[in-house]
Amino acid sequence: MHRTHTCGELRIEDEGKQVILSGWVQRIRDKGGLIWVDLRDRYGITQLLLEEGRSNAPVIEAARALGREFVVKVNGKVIERLSKNPNMPTGDIEIDLESIEVLNKSKTPPFTIEDNTDGGDELRMKYRYLDLRRQPLRRNLELRNRLSIETRKYLDGEKFFEIETPYLIKSTPEGARDFVVPSRMNEGQFYALPQSPQTFKQLLMVAGYDRYYQLVKCFRDEDLRADRQPEFTQIDCEMAFVEQDDILNTFEGMIRYLFKTVKNMDIPKLPRMEYADAMKYYGSDKPDIRFGMKFVELNDLTKNKGFKIFDEAELVVGINAVGCAGYSRKQLDKLTDFVRKPQIGAKGLVYVKFNEDGSFKSSVDKFYSQEDLKTWADKFNSKPGDLMLVLSGEADKVRKQLSELRLEMGNRLGLRKPDVFAPLWVVDFPLLEWDEEGKRYHAMHHPFTSPKPEDIHLLDTKPGEVRANAYDLVINGVEIGGGSIRIHNGDLQKLMFKHLGFSEEEAQEQFGFLLNAFEYGAPPHGGIALGFDRLVALFGGSDSIRDYIAFPKNNSGRDVMIDSPSAISSEQLDELMLKVVK
Ligand code: AMO
Repeated sequence: MHRTHTCGELRIEDEGKQVILSGWVQRIRDKGGLIWVDLRDRYGITQLLLEEGRSNAPVIEAARALGREFVVKVNGKVIERLSKNPNMPTGDIEIDLESIEVLNKSKTPPFTIEDNTDGGDELRMKYRYLDLRRQPLRRNLELRNRLSIETRKYLDGEKFFEIETPYLIKSTPEGARDFVVPSRMNEGQFYALPQSPQTFKQLLMVAGYDRYYQLVKCFRDEDLRADRQPEFTQIDCEMAFVEQDDILNTFEGMIRYLFKTVKNMDIPKLPRMEYADAMKYYGSDKPDIRFGMKFVELNDLTKNKGFKIFDEAELVVGINAVGCAGYSRKQLDKLTDFVRKPQIGAKGLVYVKFNEDGSFKSSVDKFYSQEDLKTWADKFNSKPGDLMLVLSGEADKVRKQLSELRLEMGNRLGLRKPDVFAPLWVVDFPLLEWDEEGKRYHAMHHPFTSPKPEDIHLLDTKPGEVRANAYDLVINGVEIGGGSIRIHNGDLQKLMFKHLGFSEEEAQEQFGFLLNAFEYGAPPHGGIALGFDRLVALFGGSDSIRDYIAFPKNNSGRDVMIDSPSAISSEQLDELMLKVVK
């Protein structure tokens, strides 16, 4: 028998029990007369004790010969600890050791495998299987497991059907690049790995499976960030015979269920914000509404006072930072440097301090009188002690810049608390997005998204103003999911392809299978996909999804542990009829 208990299980009530434990040696402390060994497995850590004079001499010798990460099986009696550790579930007890059997030795690990490790990122990625032994990562994967089980429970309860869709498919138009796979049996032809199962789930609706879901891997060849991996997991769903409200209500229900069951948190009804308002008041289609600091537009108050920069600007817009009038020159310079960073790109920052005595001190005092600044303060609903921060320029750009500044101020003021969750729906996204480079419109979500019926007449004249039946689920400034009501009418789908610049032949070639399917009775349908890795990271209180994926890629899209991507042999290349041209 390898164990009677796990290393996370024993409590003071077990005192006196004779037990067998197996696990990895995390740490050995040898204080002359006393030796402690921390034994670890997936469930926790249990302290083992040996005492010179009392414990058996060969066992003490065996303990002294142990190295870190040796795999051992031990036998002993549960005793009460003299100095208890309230931070450990097993912290009230230890095991008075009677025997040690080494099941396997270990090389000295390249970094310490403890909650706080000395290993750098790359090293821990190379030895991911060792990093995964650490409790923080183990807890992350446990959370992931919990969330996937609860997700399935909820969707099963709502009569969703989990159906697998293929990974070797034809390119899907989700806007990123495809990963492609050469076909040995079909010379010169390639499969694409799915960026999402979008077209398949729509075909399943045509097939009559009116509530589909899948926890599914998706693949996108795009630049990586903390919240992006080239392969990631979606909770992908589709429903037939529904309207937008049915989908929002179903998935709002799921989010609230997950918060309740996994975090024991009650989430109030999710607010819905129109895309246009999200941009106007937060400068972002994924606003963090854990805090206010909404944008205030000042054009009408700032023009024609001799300040050229504001006079020439398309938009003058700012935020009010409560209680920040005391900011020093240095602090204000830092904020100016922040907005001037190339990634943000503002030219400068105008500030107005609303002093406690009711007076104003601003960086534009030359142009604006105290009375002028008072009108600003009124519009901001600013109080003595507050600081107004104002940017100006081209409307779209300046909104993005101010959005960054708002988030930065939120961070500085501690308003973005990781244990507070503020989900919302952003609805009524534009259908089309102008691509300056290609000089044409792209589908903002994807080409199967339906326009709002009342906006269809604008398709020819003002395509940029057509709104879609599309929505995003946003939590704490992160886009957790997105979806739409689809076009289920073949003619409207053809019209959309035309507006997206596809010729009839191109549309047939790429999406003929879907257009054909629509000829056989497609029900009204719509759906959503949530980024599962992002959802888990959010529940875990982190921005980085990598720590919630067992074997992630690094920022260059590499798996440094198995060393991939890698070259393949010339035989393999020949077989695939491929040639590497350098
Ligand atoms: P979308 O492209 O918005 O929609 O993707 C849905 C959600 O997937 C997550 N996500 C990612 N997570 C990690 N790494 C990535 N590279 C990555 N890319 C996307 C995001 C995003 O909100 N087929 C549509 C859904 C639909 O219309 O039903 C789709 O894939 O959290």
